[in-house]
Amino acid sequence: MSGCEGYEAIAHVYDKLNAEIDYPAWADFVEACFDRFLPKRPELVLDLACGTGSMTLELAKRGYDMIGVDGSADMLSEAFSRAIGVPQILWLQQDMRAFELYGTVVAVICCLDSLNYLLSPEDLARCFACVHNYLDPDGLFLFDMNTPYKFRTVYGNNAYVLEDETVYGEGEADEERAAIYCGWQNTYHPDSGLCEFDLSLFEELPGGTYRRTDEHQTERCYELDTVLQLLKQAGLMPLGVWSDYAFAEANDTTERWYIAARAVKA
Ligand SMILES: C[S@@+](CC[C@H](N)C(=O)[O-])C[C@H]1O[C@@H](n2cnc3c(N)ncnc32)[C@H](O)[C@@H]1O
Repeated sequence: MSGCEGYEAIAHVYDKLNAEIDYPAWADFVEACFDRFLPKRPELVLDLACGTGSMTLELAKRGYDMIGVDGSADMLSEAFSRAIGVPQILWLQQDMRAFELYGTVVAVICCLDSLNYLLSPEDLARCFACVHNYLDPDGLFLFDMNTPYKFRTVYGNNAYVLEDETVYGEGEADEERAAIYCGWQNTYHPDSGLCEFDLSLFEELPGGTYRRTDEHQTERCYELDTVLQLLKQAGLMPLGVWSDYAFAEANDTTERWYIAARAVKA
């Protein structure tokens, strides 16, 4: 699917490779935004591009009814397995540029640079229009995006290795290693703002051999002015742009913008 490529190869190891992301702390920030910008605690929250459901589950644990929308069947399948026994989540496989819900919600969240996966301003505008359509009047939209500073300096044309070296039954006779290494080569095209990620996943198999799987993903770098303008055009009034969970103002070296907007409806 254009704009939702990737994740087939890495969905089953995605959580291990992203283990450093502190979702409870992020959920505290989400709740702080609810307190700050909504008259009361929302009952139903949409987690757009929910992936394997880390934030969806964290908020469900805190008592919210949740809808998790994602375009990737592989990511949703991981989310679904993790959520067995958690009743108040509805999972939907849909494109975030054209999603449909059964009714409106009070808050929409979209985490971990998912919106950077929309590769044109037109796609971003389509997504914002859908968010506006399914938000209650004065409903809240919270999302984050990777910044131009991050695309230039952190991603650039740099390579990284993500790894997980879990040992099952450590110290026991049948101790088993299941190491995962993910080589990650970035290619950033400043003219188009597109940044390609070439991921090579190496998974250790019993007997010490490795299976390699490759995956290609693309994100787009957006200027803040473009994002704010598209929000306003969609009827989403920006409320703030921060650089961390403590509401620090974003600046030139911010790597991730945390943005809140309110749905304005006539
Ligand atoms: C970096 S992951 C973030 C997942 C999750 N929000 C998290 O915090 O882990 C980006 C997610 O965006 C989803 N995605 C990308 N393009 C999409 C589209 N057009 N429609 C729906 N989901 C999309 C991918 O399938 C993936 O699950």
